[in-house]
Amino acid sequence: MNTEKRVAVVTGSYKGLGFEIARKLAKLDNIQVIISGRDKAKGLEACEKLAQQGLEVDFLPLDVTDDKSVENFVNALHEQYGRVDILVNNAGVNPAKEAEEGSVLTAKLDTVISTFAVNSVGPLRLCQALIPMMKEHNYGRIVNVSTEMASLNYIPNDYYPLAPSYRLSKIGLNGVACLLGRELKDTNILINNYSPGWMKTDIGGADAPLTAEEGAETAVYLATLPDGGSQGGFFAEMRKFGGPFALPW
Ligand SMILES: NC(=O)c1ccc[n+]([C@@H]2O[C@H](COP(=O)([O-])OP(=O)(O)OC[C@H]3O[C@@H](n4cnc5c(N)ncnc54)[C@H](OP(=O)(O)O)[C@@H]3O)[C@@H](O)[C@H]2O)c1
Repeated sequence: MNTEKRVAVVTGSYKGLGFEIARKLAKLDNIQVIISGRDKAKGLEACEKLAQQGLEVDFLPLDVTDDKSVENFVNALHEQYGRVDILVNNAGVNPAKEAEEGSVLTAKLDTVISTFAVNSVGPLRLCQALIPMMKEHNYGRIVNVSTEMASLNYIPNDYYPLAPSYRLSKIGLNGVACLLGRELKDTNILINNYSPGWMKTDIGGADAPLTAEEGAETAVYLATLPDGGSQGGFFAEMRKFGGPFALPW
């Protein structure tokens, strides 16, 4: 089925923030949402849950760390939809609860590398795979889920845990948007990062003040920017500031 609808891909979206971003995008007119993730059964379950709310979304398997999985994903997008317009790089891991994450000096380098593989190289891999398809229709909106814990400006004085694997990997992700924002300047493919705030999810834990639904609002705003909108930016969660608010890198 080739479609004239805009096609939106959300990575790691059968639960947590990704699921809420997918749900909010699916409520908008003229957008076909693709839920994606490593576990097919969970993906189909998420589609079913949204179908019960009257929202028709599809599932495609995707492991953002795996070249072959991304290749299969891109082929399936080509065959089934013929386009991709929106990419939300949401899939992420946070190993901060492991003891070695309390100190940069003792952080396990294996953990640093595996966290980078999901949180920064994964989104870069998806950008490399999908931006050529976006160029075919001269339209693209890319949103990377980052965190204000990755703001180099804030780090010297902030009160968050050191969490070196997580923070370094999200700093890398910020670099992806910054560099690609420059390369995509003067195109209609806009890439921006945002911090969703601290949310009740498997990563955020039960004490977080925000719901995933609240954290999803800014992603939807950035995924539907008008032509000429922000390029290569880093935003805070909008509800905190009553509107779009740029964070320092
Ligand atoms: N929660 C917070 O307070 C908070 C704050 C700032 C930023 N964030 C960011 O928000 C994003 C979503 O996290 P969340 O809070 O919603 O946590 P979550 O519920 O644990 O969701 C993370 C998602 O990423 C998926 N994932 C992990 N590795 C993957 C891989 N290799 N390929 C594809 N999918 C993969 C997970 O799937 P599996 O179940 O298969 O592992 C899961 O669906 C992350 O990027 C996180 O860093 C969260």
